[in-house]
Amino acid sequence: MKTFTLATAASSLISTVLAAPSLQARDDITPITVKGNAFFKGDERFYIRGLDYQPGGSSDLADPITDVKGCKRDIPKFKELGVNTIRVYSVDNSKDHDECMNALADAGIYLVLDVNTPKYSINRSKPKESYNDVYLQYIFATVDKFAKYKNTLAFFSGNEVINDGPSSSAAPYVKAVTRDLRQYIRSRGYRKIPVGYSAADVESNRLQMAEYMNCGTEDQRSDFFAFNDYSWCDPSSFTKSGWDKKVEKFSHYGLPLFLSEYGCNTNKRDFGEVHALYSEKMTPVYSGGLVYEYSQESSNYGLVKIDGGNVKELDDFSALAKAFKNTPNPEGDGGYNKTAGGNPCPAKNAPSWDVDSGDELPAIPEPAKKYMKEGAGKGKGFSGSGSQNAGTQSTGTAEPGSASVPSDGASSSGSGSGSSSSESGSSGAAAGLKVPPMSFAPLFIGMVTVLSGFFGASLILV
Ligand SMILES: *[C@@H]1O[C@H](CO)[C@@H](O)[C@H](O)[C@H]1NC(C)=O
Ligand SMILES: *[C@@H]1O[C@H](CO)[C@@H](O)[C@H](O)[C@H]1NC(C)=O
Repeated sequence: MKTFTLATAASSLISTVLAAPSLQARDDITPITVKGNAFFKGDERFYIRGLDYQPGGSSDLADPITDVKGCKRDIPKFKELGVNTIRVYSVDNSKDHDECMNALADAGIYLVLDVNTPKYSINRSKPKESYNDVYLQYIFATVDKFAKYKNTLAFFSGNEVINDGPSSSAAPYVKAVTRDLRQYIRSRGYRKIPVGYSAADVESNRLQMAEYMNCGTEDQRSDFFAFNDYSWCDPSSFTKSGWDKKVEKFSHYGLPLFLSEYGCNTNKRDFGEVHALYSEKMTPVYSGGLVYEYSQESSNYGLVKIDGGNVKELDDFSALAKAFKNTPNPEGDGGYNKTAGGNPCPAKNAPSWDVDSGDELPAIPEPAKKYMKEGAGKGKGFSGSGSQNAGTQSTGTAEPGSASVPSDGASSSGSGSGSSSSESGSSGAAAGLKVPPMSFAPLFIGMVTVLSGFFGASLILV
């Protein structure tokens, strides 16, 4: 694409003028990184001003990124709205995505991608069976397809797998998948694309799930956490919606946090929550969110109505565009937490949180280990036969730290050693465990005190 653009530019003055912005935009797209509990674009704090984008509905098996016509039809609308990020719920990993991804990059728009599809996902009613090598091959192949784009902002390792108290027992599998994806990204030498989970709007275990995804050794923790929140129904306010309480609840949370879906449609929407979300009342803890959703589907959350090549803007479209326009980001860094870091694992409290804080995570299924070294190979795409009853399951549990991958010379030999970072400082707990190699960053050492309770508990169960 770049060569083509340059050639065009050389051919005439007019095309130079036309081509230059596109070339510059392509080069300009700066990958998003995580610092403390926030996202950054270079040295600047980055807030997700986003939109959920799945024309046809999120349960419909369609890939809006391979639909180049639709993608190019909708990008001007994204710009009109003022969004910098879209979330897509499913993609076909056997297909090519260059054209739409590059067009999005040219428009300065990032992608948050769900790596799962309905056929290739963890099934909350049978998590053990659905966590298998065929499943992992699929999602790793999806990572292979999207890691090369600088505007891939993040991957969702799972979406609403846990949707009430009892289904929280599937959380160790969600966490294992997150661990495996992060290990895959490091093992394959890709850019550090953030990986995290998108939680359902469940008040009873929201905090536990967030804490659970941020406890344990570095290799077990997530890069961010996101949840859906439909509690602000216009007309409302920071206090009336209860968002003040949530900010308080999460005020010491050590990962970037954002809303993976928001925009209650009970009453007429004026998106009053946009003002709150990007105000200094929230930005020390939140990094924005994604409005549900771009297209009008049966659930009636759409901003536009798509009819073939035509897109009709609905009332909510101008309401959201106006809300974004009238809401600048806070000055400076928005008060983010520079240190951040992990937290202890939440205590079991069934039925709302049914995970023992001492339980180890399931080990990666044996046949999937080879993908770390060899790559996942071709994706089966939408025509694949699915993974929920396929392949080889996990046997046993993984030792904390076992998914570490040496990187940048900062760590040397964590991989495969089965070591844990915790025992270096706690002599009693260290008995029977291997001495850790010098493979852990200073952050790890700092976490020893916080985590020692967790490891103490886990050792009893070993
Ligand atoms: C999950 O498993 C249950 C029980 O086997 C099954 O009825 C359901 O269809 C599965 N869900 C999906 C999305 O395949
Ligand atoms: C920053 O994050 C750390 C780790 O989660 C936490 O312990 C600390 O309280 C946070 N600081 C503030 C000011 O919230």
